Amino acid sequence: MEIKVFGKPGNDQMKNLYGAIYKGKKVLITGHTGFKGSWLSLWLSKLGAEVIGYSINIPSSPNHFELLDIKMKSVSGDVLDKQKLLETIATHKPDIVFHMAAQPIVRLSYQEPVRTLETNIIGTLNVLESCRQIKGVKAIVIITSDKCYRNQEIMWGYRETDPMGGDDPYSASKGCADLIASSYRQSFFNPNSYGTKHKTLIGTVRAGNVIGGGDWAKDRLIPDIMKATNLGKEVTIRNPYATRPWQHVLEPLSGYLHLGWKLLEGKKEFSDSWNFGPNDNSSIAVGKVIEKVKSYWKNVRYEIQKDAANPHEANLLKLDSTKAHTKLGWYAVWNSEKTFEKTTIWYKKYYTSKKLLTRKDLTDYIREAKNLKIEWATT
Ligand SMILES: NC(=O)c1ccc[n+]([C@@H]2O[C@H](COP(=O)([O-])OP(=O)(O)OC[C@H]3O[C@@H](n4cnc5c(N)ncnc54)[C@H](O)[C@@H]3O)[C@@H](O)[C@H]2O)c1
Repeated sequence: MEIKVFGKPGNDQMKNLYGAIYKGKKVLITGHTGFKGSWLSLWLSKLGAEVIGYSINIPSSPNHFELLDIKMKSVSGDVLDKQKLLETIATHKPDIVFHMAAQPIVRLSYQEPVRTLETNIIGTLNVLESCRQIKGVKAIVIITSDKCYRNQEIMWGYRETDPMGGDDPYSASKGCADLIASSYRQSFFNPNSYGTKHKTLIGTVRAGNVIGGGDWAKDRLIPDIMKATNLGKEVTIRNPYATRPWQHVLEPLSGYLHLGWKLLEGKKEFSDSWNFGPNDNSSIAVGKVIEKVKSYWKNVRYEIQKDAANPHEANLLKLDSTKAHTKLGWYAVWNSEKTFEKTTIWYKKYYTSKKLLTRKDLTDYIREAKNLKIEWATT
């Protein structure tokens, strides 16, 4: 299938975002062939970074990373392969590492608990330990999840100081990964001894359910709807009352890049944990999500499944992003309506006209962030 690429590649103005910090920087992304990794790889390449990706596989077909055809280095490797990871970091000497490689699906974690726990916990440990041994990495951003918090079904948002937890293997793995990163921060990369004993700052980042074009992972609501609609099938909706803080993939990525910017500048007060959630009203029940999606692609058909045998997934999850707002000056750009519109139209265009809207979505997002005078877009 021939894919047309839209947007304005090579826009030089783009390199000035985030105080132009990423221009010429070497950036390692683990999990670059995945949904979030592919968008981040594109964005960083536009920011003028030399991007190196490290992933075990191409996790889907079609695959967004392959479709984007980004000019970057791509290493095939397992985060559980300590030696290869170490060699990759030693060879490429990244200034900053964004660690996102993971088994990210809750339901799959019930079927494959060992792989999930090993990949997400030991994989994170291997990334941190490789950086400790190689030295020279200035900043590490560990991507965990809103599910790292001990879920108390509270109606207000979780704060960075709330305890880690996790009932299912995926959530537990993310809580553990966050704790390990925190322990490395305290023990080896303590902000108080930054510049004297070491030169590395670590941040952990927690975001919720991310949507946007180019996600073809199994067992996720939006990809499931889009794949079924493309095939003219009805999609089955489980857990219609579960609310999630839906946000466009560009929202947390703008936060990760924002944090990375501050860490690369050596601002040790930002070496901490951060929530990057949507505005409050974006926490919407699954049953309402499908209606919104249908309003942008009328071919969507669905049935609600009432099956008590479904494995447990947390029902109420919200993040409190006050800290990111007040200390970083980071804010979400798109509201839920825009997020569902952009996401649905992306898939509709892809399936019906073979058009790839990723670069256009990125350009639109940055323009709207500039209009809103969000710090990373205006400095
Ligand atoms: N997508 C979401 O809604 C969401 C929400 C919160 C947190 N996260 C986190 O963001 C990160 C990226 O998620 P995603 O949605 O892009 O996932 P994805 O499944 O699309 O991509 C996962 C990536 O990790 C790589 N990977 C998996 N196991 C690996 C291993 N053993 N060694 C090396 N690479 C491996 C895959 O090749 C792929 O590149 C994950 O850490 C996930 O837990 C995602």
